[in-house]
Amino acid sequence: SAAEKGGYDHFMLKEIAEQPRAVADTLLGRIGVDGLLTLDEVRLSAEELREINKIIVIACGTSYHAGLIAKYAIEHWAGIPCEVELASEFRYRDPILTRDTLIIVISQSGETMDSLMAVRHAREQRSRVLAICNVNGSTIPREADAVLYTHAGPEIAVASTKAFLTQLVACYLVALYLAQVRGTKFGDEISQIVARLGEMPARVEEVLSTMEPVRELARSLAGERCVLFLGRHVGFPVALEGALKLKELAYMHAEGFAAGELKHGPIALVERGLPVVVVVPSPSGQRVTHEKIVSNIQEIRARGAKTIVIAEEGDTSVEPYADTLVRVPAVPTLLQPLVATVPLQVFACELATAKGHDVDQPRNLAKSVTVE
Ligand code: G6P
Repeated sequence: SAAEKGGYDHFMLKEIAEQPRAVADTLLGRIGVDGLLTLDEVRLSAEELREINKIIVIACGTSYHAGLIAKYAIEHWAGIPCEVELASEFRYRDPILTRDTLIIVISQSGETMDSLMAVRHAREQRSRVLAICNVNGSTIPREADAVLYTHAGPEIAVASTKAFLTQLVACYLVALYLAQVRGTKFGDEISQIVARLGEMPARVEEVLSTMEPVRELARSLAGERCVLFLGRHVGFPVALEGALKLKELAYMHAEGFAAGELKHGPIALVERGLPVVVVVPSPSGQRVTHEKIVSNIQEIRARGAKTIVIAEEGDTSVEPYADTLVRVPAVPTLLQPLVATVPLQVFACELATAKGHDVDQPRNLAKSVTVE
């Protein structure tokens, strides 16, 4: 009903707007006044956490994209080797699992069958399983050794938005907590990052307040057949997520690529007028990849692509090559997905609406896939 949608036309719009609150709620009570993280609820002892020598993140769909971003955070802050795998692939190969492997399963619903089967497979091999879930008491957290709940609140729209942002927050918390418990070399950086993480609800709010040009752009592209998304570092999974949203909602052919792979294939797809969304890394946090992606933007533009550039405030280097420039606040590199994903959600939602599609109930898709 209209009341349930809180004045919005669609649940998805409401859920996109709720993201600052969802992020704040997921942080709530987990950062102490001393700047230290308190994740006692995770129920794995400091000793167990110190024994971990490998992490495998398992998930499906949008949750998998959160997992891809988690890898960058876990390896950088906690210094633990991390793999990310689609749940549907995991148990059909022969993953090397030991007691010291930590499985992190990410699932909004906690009911996705592929993810549940992967959890069972890992537990049979005696690996410990930490679930990141949004639905209290759902099956996956009940079967896991430990759970860190995201506090996005109920997500009704089939395409995940606020749950994704809170999954990222949970992944950052786990990575930073592992670093804290294990005492990695990034001690100083970690307390600073924890403080910056606490500011993210305000940063997401800022992004939401500047989305009108993105909506206009989306409406202008409703007649397109194909959109490419490029990113590097944590911007690569953001590009994958932007493409997934467009497939799910607008039924358009959309692909996300690692910008460094452009010359190994994707550039052959670039033709006059093709919209290409580029998620640009921070020039200060990712100096080298930033420079390389700026030349990628020049390359595709020289071939006639319509460049839609998502770049940090103050990054002037992209200005000459952006047909449309979308600004996001400058935040620490690893946290950029929290701000950079939002314009892509808005873009897909608006474009799909312009095409007359039901964004809450896309064709052929289910909120929670409980069959393998
Ligand atoms: C379905 C939904 C997606 C979701 C995926 C994983 O495909 O449509 O939005 O990302 O399942 O769901 P989960 O509940 O495990 O995160």
